[in-house]
Amino acid sequence: MSQHIDGISPHGGHLVQRVATAAERQEFLQQADRLPRVQLDERATSDLVMIAIGGFSPLNGFMEQDDYESVVTDMHLANGLPWSIPITLSVSEEAAEPLKEGGWVRLDDQNGRFIGVLELTQKYRYNKVHEATNVYRTDEEKHPGVKVVYEQGPINLAGPIWLLEREPHPLFPSYQVDPLQSRALFKEKGWKTIVGFQTRNPIHRAHEYIQKCALETVDGLFLHPLVGATKSDDIPADVRMRCYEIMLENYFPKDRVILAINPSAMRYAGPREAIFHALIRKNYGCTHFIVGRDHAGVGDYYGTYDAQHLFDEFDPAALGIVPMKFEHAFYCTRTQTMATTKTSPSSPAERIHLSGTKVRELLRSGQLPPPEFSRPEVAAELIRAMRETVEA
Ligand code: ADX
Repeated sequence: MSQHIDGISPHGGHLVQRVATAAERQEFLQQADRLPRVQLDERATSDLVMIAIGGFSPLNGFMEQDDYESVVTDMHLANGLPWSIPITLSVSEEAAEPLKEGGWVRLDDQNGRFIGVLELTQKYRYNKVHEATNVYRTDEEKHPGVKVVYEQGPINLAGPIWLLEREPHPLFPSYQVDPLQSRALFKEKGWKTIVGFQTRNPIHRAHEYIQKCALETVDGLFLHPLVGATKSDDIPADVRMRCYEIMLENYFPKDRVILAINPSAMRYAGPREAIFHALIRKNYGCTHFIVGRDHAGVGDYYGTYDAQHLFDEFDPAALGIVPMKFEHAFYCTRTQTMATTKTSPSSPAERIHLSGTKVRELLRSGQLPPPEFSRPEVAAELIRAMRETVEA
């Protein structure tokens, strides 16, 4: 069946769609009780969804060994397309043992609900330390992405998947915009150039500044906060989404911005994750992608601009989405504007920027971060949310 796709070419040229048709769903439901089962964790569940809606195009399932090895060592799929993060379904020996290659596996979510099917083409072992040092640039277990790899099972199950049904997101149904829909929306708005923005943190003024600098040169801004699994001390997605609603209400032109959720899980893989984040947004139809300071970083594992440098190692045509790189932005007290060292003559003492840790400390003690760091309405919302958590 040929598929009409609006906008720029998806990664690999074809937008993957793996949501079961009514007939397929019927067949899967009839077989459900007879199929061997695997229970997915939160990350694998969101990966299943991302594959099914085409967010991870050209992947149509969990990676087989040749793709996996090639991605881990060389940041390309076996067919030569750029791809920087392994997408795997890792299970225990006991879970893998009864599963036969060539058969179907029923995929359940954390609550035991039947949500998808895997056509198992391969089971293989993999080297966790090798994956960690290549993908995360460290083998330390305290890195949150490495920790997930070390805690998951030793066998990868691979093969094409189907998602049984595309259900509305339980928390953000009105912001669920899948790649086919975002592409149609961009077309409807007449946008030819669209910049995507990845984020896992509450919006602050440096975010707003780089978003608006980017928007000055393109037609539209696709704000795409990640709402899948994050580490436990990151601010919850519902609070972050409320902050974005407040910003759109007060500080952005409504007809130039689309806010939508990115259902996938954070890896904290810094530079490699920046490439991955860009490819996802290409699949959603973005032509440009913002990469600022320490993109998708954690602690001090990555250099401030490592993610930006990694883009230079790829053939721009093969990536097919343009990175918009921004230096570390701050409020400059001398010129009284947001700026970077590219645009501000300030000395370090004249720059206001706060670390995430410092902001969390302020919020915890009930203090508003300064207006040079955060819009007051957003700061008030963060304090409100923090109080609610303490009282709960
Ligand atoms: S991330 O893990 O999703 O990258 P975050 O939500 O903090 O974390 O960042 C979203 C985007 O904004 C990333 O591209 C990041 O590099 C960029 N960014 C965050 N803070 C700044 C800043 N002060 N200056 C420039 N870019 C920034």
